[in-house]
Amino acid sequence: AIVPVILSGGAGTRLWPMSRPERPKQLLALTAEETMLQLTARRAPVDAGFAAPVVVANALHADLILEQLAQSGAEPQAVILEPMGRNTAPAIALAALAVGGGSTPLLVMPSDHVIADIPAFHAAIATAMPRVSEGWMVTFGITPDHPETGYGYIRVGEPIGEGIHKVARFVEKPPRDTAEAMVASGDHVWNGGIFLFRADVFLDALADHAPEILAAAQASMDRAIREGSRVLPDAAEFARSPSDSIDYAVMEKAERVAVVPVAMGWSDVGSWDALHGISDCDAQGNACRGDVVAIDTANCLVRVSAGKRVALVGVSDLIVVADGDEILILPRGRSQEVKRIIEAMKTD
Ligand code: GDD
Ligand code: MG
Repeated sequence: AIVPVILSGGAGTRLWPMSRPERPKQLLALTAEETMLQLTARRAPVDAGFAAPVVVANALHADLILEQLAQSGAEPQAVILEPMGRNTAPAIALAALAVGGGSTPLLVMPSDHVIADIPAFHAAIATAMPRVSEGWMVTFGITPDHPETGYGYIRVGEPIGEGIHKVARFVEKPPRDTAEAMVASGDHVWNGGIFLFRADVFLDALADHAPEILAAAQASMDRAIREGSRVLPDAAEFARSPSDSIDYAVMEKAERVAVVPVAMGWSDVGSWDALHGISDCDAQGNACRGDVVAIDTANCLVRVSAGKRVALVGVSDLIVVADGDEILILPRGRSQEVKRIIEAMKTD
């Protein structure tokens, strides 16, 4: 069976103040009653034929992650706790080693995305599987609707089966003008950040293109400590790994990379604007959660944590987030600039 590999290492800083280092985006209930991690686990459940998941996460979040998974009824076969973040290539290497390599297919999923159409996602996986078994590494392609510079782009090449194409080119996080050209070209899709490949194929690709990552992951797993489902890779060995993403370390370089384009209501919920975009809004275009009084207010995203109240009169197109001791207010369309707030706070 396909082993879901759930990555939970990101910080989600653009969703400050709700997302914070001790409880990042993926551990929050941002889009539904369940947290994004729980929604991710439920996307590839045992009762749909998937194996029990492997979670790779920052050790700081171990308790929260185990608690949330238990709550949603997911029983992970392993929760690999990284002593420090080394980005996604080493994280996935740990998972591939934990399942013992071999031809086991791994479905690598970020824990902080939304997929609205689960049947379409499962159909795309079924489309990919015959090629995955033959040794292809498959990504899932999303039709771009704006020149996002924070994503990877894939030029869709010749078909290698029904609904599956060779990747003609993989361009991770292009500059603005390149992104614009690729969106205009009509033959590029976004890399959805979800990957499907055999564990041995991924480990071989690492051996070819990022041998230092493989060596460090291997050494840290050889000396790992296991406590129930918790796996603690050796910190000193893991620390030797270069920090790199699967996109730069492997996907841009490897042979036999394929893409399955799929329309499945995908969003990486990368910003407050993105969250407003996928939220159910009222007749005035407001998406409010928590104790909110909104009078003559339109097109606002308002998020208020328990024990607080926010009242608005006569405003529109605002993002207002009140959490703990912190309040964020900015106009819609500028939520990428939350990064600037984080920077400004660092230098305080
Ligand atoms: N365990 C672990 N350890 N997980 C990690 C680490 C790490 O060190 N670093 C990142 N992750 C997790 C994040 O939590 C996220 O769920 C996922 O891996 C992807 O990492 P991001 O840092 O969010 O990547 P990105 O958004 O910049 O880019 C990737 O995703 C885009 C789509 O959202 C790339 O694959 C792009 O090509 C893609 O378009
Ligand atoms: Mg991301």
